[in-house]
Amino acid sequence: MTERMSALFSLKNEVVVLTGGYGLIGSVLAKGLAELGAKVAVIEPKLDESKTRTLGENVAVFAADVTKHDQLERALADISARWGPPTGLVANAGLDSPPDAPAEENGPFETYPEASWDRVMEVNAKGVFLCAQVFGGAMAQAGRGSIVNVGSIYGVVSPDQSLYEYRRSDGETFFKPAAYAASKSALYNFTRYLAAYWGPKNVRANIVTFAGVFSGQDPRFLEAYARKIPLRRPGREALANMAAPEDYLGAVAFLLSPASSYMTGAELRVDGGFTAI
Ligand SMILES: NC(=O)c1ccc[n+]([C@@H]2O[C@H](COP(=O)([O-])OP(=O)(O)OC[C@H]3O[C@@H](n4cnc5c(N)ncnc54)[C@H](O)[C@@H]3O)[C@@H](O)[C@H]2O)c1
Repeated sequence: MTERMSALFSLKNEVVVLTGGYGLIGSVLAKGLAELGAKVAVIEPKLDESKTRTLGENVAVFAADVTKHDQLERALADISARWGPPTGLVANAGLDSPPDAPAEENGPFETYPEASWDRVMEVNAKGVFLCAQVFGGAMAQAGRGSIVNVGSIYGVVSPDQSLYEYRRSDGETFFKPAAYAASKSALYNFTRYLAAYWGPKNVRANIVTFAGVFSGQDPRFLEAYARKIPLRRPGREALANMAAPEDYLGAVAFLLSPASSYMTGAELRVDGGFTAI
């Protein structure tokens, strides 16, 4: 590869803040972005040395809750002292229905708990707003940066409740909740807002749309889900055409890299075609 072309996709000299870097997708993004040359500052509410070790070189973890402005400011100061001001932000931390969620959280919409709505909105919408304010603000001040917000197919189209029919046929009352969909959809126009607001400061803002990641789901779910994905990848049948976290790395890296330097306010959809049909 020529030097010109490798520089186009390189993340050398980038300091990327990545929220939720211990998670299923975040941990793969952290390692991959570091492999492309970035210094990666993971933001997680609680430090866990054993998880941090798995993230490898050029990844450091800073304790902060994305819903707490003062904690994010402290993390910004620590990151800047260590590596200089951030040049990239991947707002990846998000809540769906946490494992300790009350049963009503996955029940009928009519009785979905108000407290659950608030909690999901707080992390998924307010958390992204605060991270943009703190880390994006520092980028605007420095006159350079790229923000990548993490959206979801369920922020673009409604959850297809028929995918979860198998749980109801088992006697469980299960509906994919509304708060996740509402919180993720808010990020699309928020991203355009940031693009318009910070364009003059040379800070770009784009959003990636991810589809479901394989994590050992029930075979009946996998079968129903596979019917909604037009893309067929040889050798990947075992995943029933769900994504692996690695499938999202290229899109995020591209949006952080010079290769996308004229791109802002855009959505990059990586969903195997889920929303194409
Ligand atoms: N997994 C999927 O199938 C899927 C599909 C589409 C979109 N997404 C989106 O991708 C992103 C990552 O998903 P994932 O599956 O890796 O999730 P995950 O639950 O595995 O990881 C989320 C991470 O965010 C962290 N986090 C939660 N609340 C936080 C807070 N207040 N402050 C800081 N960190 C916090 C958690 O500690 C965790 O490490 C999310 O935004 C999610 O909505 C996921």
